[in-house]
Amino acid sequence: MTTVAIVLAAGRGQRMGADKALLDLNGRTAFDHVAAQCHSAGVDLLLVVRRDDAAELPQPQASPPVQVVRWSGDGDMADSLRIAESRLPAATTTVVVLPIDHALVTADTLVAVAAAAQRPGAAIALPLYRGKPGHPVALTRAVFAEIRTSGRTLRDLVRTDQGRVTAVPTANPWVLADLDHQDDLRDARAALAAGPACPVAQMFAHRSRRAYSSTPLAPGQLERLVDAARHASTSSWIQAATAIAVHDQAHREHIAVLCGNQDHIRQAPVFLAICADLHRLGIACQRVGDDVQTASLELFLQAVIDASLFAQNLALAAESEGLGICMIGGARNHPVELATRLGLPPRVFVVFGMTIGHATDEPIPRGRMPLAGILHRDHYDTTGVDAALDGADAAMRRWAGRTNTERGGYQGRLVDESRGFRERVAQSTGSRSRYLQSRLALREELRRLGFDLG
Ligand SMILES: Cc1cc2nc3c(=O)[nH]c(=O)nc-3n(C[C@H](O)[C@H](O)[C@H](O)COP(=O)(O)O)c2cc1C
Repeated sequence: MTTVAIVLAAGRGQRMGADKALLDLNGRTAFDHVAAQCHSAGVDLLLVVRRDDAAELPQPQASPPVQVVRWSGDGDMADSLRIAESRLPAATTTVVVLPIDHALVTADTLVAVAAAAQRPGAAIALPLYRGKPGHPVALTRAVFAEIRTSGRTLRDLVRTDQGRVTAVPTANPWVLADLDHQDDLRDARAALAAGPACPVAQMFAHRSRRAYSSTPLAPGQLERLVDAARHASTSSWIQAATAIAVHDQAHREHIAVLCGNQDHIRQAPVFLAICADLHRLGIACQRVGDDVQTASLELFLQAVIDASLFAQNLALAAESEGLGICMIGGARNHPVELATRLGLPPRVFVVFGMTIGHATDEPIPRGRMPLAGILHRDHYDTTGVDAALDGADAAMRRWAGRTNTERGGYQGRLVDESRGFRERVAQSTGSRSRYLQSRLALREELRRLGFDLG
């Protein structure tokens, strides 16, 4: 059995503005990715179709033997397949046609389609993602020869004789997605960086991380994460969130002090100030002869919500790439001083901060109150509140017990296991809350920052 992958890399990549085989996918070319997956899949030979004038392909890190088939490029995909067909070794039993656009296709898909094409009664196999057929298409040698002998295209072969086509369901969306535009490239890089993380599992695994190594984020990683995060929903499309990334150690040292001396702000390679930003909107209004309503509680809330949604998206994006985060409400300890230090224009307010980095702590998960306390059906169910509080209590005591026994306490001190959720919440939100007392100046501080909320 000899399986040959025909890698179609002869396009000019006009929409992308680059030779797709040479696209940089997080430090490796698209061709290198394809070659590595073919290698893992046990493909015996890569026949790569390139234009006459296309650049040489660099030697892949891991690959089956590579033969490059040069071609003038004057024609369509069927022409390049015919040329490749004429170069197939005599021993070829299976052909896998792999357009370079699908460079994120993985070895398991290649193995699955190649095996399915060889099953009795089958001759052609393709991957199916959410009911839609994609690439790569695998064919027996005999059927693939019809491209030359009958002049049919690959599409014809798949469409006209459905009886011999086997669809192999896959969870890999890249069997459908083309690398056509810069946005596709951005998405591909993000997907490669995230690996196979499942967002829901990621959410369950969340923990705030409060110790970091000094290892910086990878080049371009912060930009990618923020780029993804800013696609969060935004109230009325106003996009009122801004993030200020602080890398400089001395700058972070000052910020750490302003935020309650939290050491993880010093340690993490990046601190982000997550801002509700009416400055930009003010300029927008000004440009058309109007003023933004800085006294509007609604608009203030919209900006704070935008900032929060952006930040939570950012947290998930960072966690999906193996980083740790901690949100920093301490950024509201001294909002005016922090605004000055960050050079914020009027009408911008740091809602909270966020540390991002390679976490070195392994905190015990804090758990949450039971789902039934959070998710009500049709109407607010007041009868379940105490059960929810009991559940929150149990989660908190479980966390305290485990933290004491498995971590020797929290931040150097044993946690008082006798205090439950009610006591703790009364301390932070009740009439004697020292925390809320310390925030009494917030309204006036917001006024000084340009938000006149009365
Ligand atoms: C807006 C916001 C501000 C926060 N501020 C701080 C902070 O200043 N310092 C800190 O160590 N943790 C902070 N946290 C983290 C919370 O303490 C943490 O999310 C909560 O205790 C639950 O723990 P978990 O995130 O590990 O599940 C903040 C969380 C949020 C949402």
